[in-house]
Amino acid sequence: MIVNLHIKSIDQAEAIKTIKRKITDLDKMKIDEQKKAVRSGYDMDIIPSDLATYGGEAKNLLQDLQSRNERMFLVTFLVVNMANSKRKLDNDVFAAAGIAQKYNCALTRLDFQQEEGLMSSIPLGRNEIEIQRGLTTSSTAVFIPFITQELFQGGEALYYGLNALSNNMILCDRKQLKNPNGLILGTPGSGKSFAAKREITNAFLITDDDIYISDPEAEYAPLVNSLLGQVIRISPTSKEYINPMDINLNYSEDDNPLALKSDFILSLCELVVGGKEGLAPVEKTVIDRAVRTVYREFLAEPVPERMPILGDLYEELLRQPEPEAARVAAALELYVTGSLNVFNHRTNVELNNRLVCFDIKSLGKQLKKLGMLIVQDQIWNRVTINRAKKKATRYYMDEFHLLLREEQTAAYSVEIWKRFRKWSGIPTGITQNVKDLLSSREVENIFENSDFVLMLNQAVSDRNILAKQLNISPQQMKYVTHTESGEGLLFYGNVILPFVDHFPKDTKLYKVMTTKPEEVSSE
Ligand SMILES: Nc1ncnc2c1ncn2[C@@H]1O[C@H](COP(=O)(O)OP(=O)(O)OP(=O)(O)O)[C@@H](O)[C@H]1O
Ligand SMILES: [Mg+2]
Repeated sequence: MIVNLHIKSIDQAEAIKTIKRKITDLDKMKIDEQKKAVRSGYDMDIIPSDLATYGGEAKNLLQDLQSRNERMFLVTFLVVNMANSKRKLDNDVFAAAGIAQKYNCALTRLDFQQEEGLMSSIPLGRNEIEIQRGLTTSSTAVFIPFITQELFQGGEALYYGLNALSNNMILCDRKQLKNPNGLILGTPGSGKSFAAKREITNAFLITDDDIYISDPEAEYAPLVNSLLGQVIRISPTSKEYINPMDINLNYSEDDNPLALKSDFILSLCELVVGGKEGLAPVEKTVIDRAVRTVYREFLAEPVPERMPILGDLYEELLRQPEPEAARVAAALELYVTGSLNVFNHRTNVELNNRLVCFDIKSLGKQLKKLGMLIVQDQIWNRVTINRAKKKATRYYMDEFHLLLREEQTAAYSVEIWKRFRKWSGIPTGITQNVKDLLSSREVENIFENSDFVLMLNQAVSDRNILAKQLNISPQQMKYVTHTESGEGLLFYGNVILPFVDHFPKDTKLYKVMTTKPEEVSSE
């Protein structure tokens, strides 16, 4: 079926003149009718109802044109039906007429004018059909529902699937956003990690950005390996170490890189000491003091051999006179000399690959949050180095909610989230728990500072929260309600688009991206 519209605008003055002439004609007809009525002896107010309506409409139209900034158009609306058999064609024509009639329109069959009809329907811009209807701007606009919002950017734009409304490709570049920070939200199995892997692959192939992944579920390794990236497995027994005390002189934009580092170490101690209240003010003070002392030597001569490790901090804490320092040191002991001392070593992995995945699954429940925090800090280190090289850094945090639950780690993450943008970092948080994102004013910041959101299928309660927070209409809500994996809404600045991305399953790429147990290859 081809639907075609010919729209010809009419000169405004001409249109007004025509309507005025029409009104005069109608008035004349009315007078004639009235004369007839008087002559025949009945009430002269009784005139044919058509005449009354036309008169009223013509006057409204004149008013529209003269005072409401409307114009006149001549519109020819053509529908070409095509079918393989005469019978099917008759059925189609009948069905089309039925649909039109439902909306109070009549389709006229172009008997004996089929050729002209066809010629006018192909994109030549010629109208050989003389059936036209005068319409105002707003009535003409009704015929053009074909405008959908699209996102189709040039440059280093990445592919995010098809626009569910128009089937056009969605191509966008997060770097062009005011704030490239992103979130991927959805119920378990809705395809969050999959969407992240899609973006990672595209970004890897199209941009020159460095890509880092914090992977608490050990599911990115197959993909990263296929792209010849680097997988760093951190576990209590592995021999690959990253040092939470790593710092470089660009670590923070203030003159003193230690301020932010000290903040990080406070978060780390808070996690380690645990407890509901977290660290007491005195404890924070002694930690901060110890941190400054520990780094003094390194900052005087910044060579890798002088990089402090947790053990140095532990000893420095023991040297402090306050009893609180001893408490913190006691809590740290397990991580320094105890069985969980994975993080008490100098970094021995070279982060020289563009694509690095930190697999922290084997850290177990106890250490996982700590691991995520330390990985986040390592990546911050990278961002600061890359900034000097004018290189963007993409960072993916799966199971982001783990970091948002604890007040202190949440606060540090919020801080990083805010800083990333300024340092050409592009962080993406992946989480199923929308509630955790809105748990406090502080964390809500993350939400408000993310101009890019991929929203997949949502649970009922989350849906309501999100609708309020992001102003999603009920129509748009449909796209995140009981949908299949790979379908949802994409937020890009103030553009909201429904997208569909069904990835072909018979591909090599699919096999390294899926997490369905039965599909994961056992190699
Ligand atoms: N765009 C897609 N096209 C085809 N299949 C998909 C798509 N997205 C997800 N899937 C399928 O759904 C499965 C689950 O997706 P994924 O692992 O991304 O879920 P998730 O949202 O990260 O879940 P969890 O919260 O448990 O981590 C994938 O293994 C894949 O088989
Ligand atoms: Mg996942």
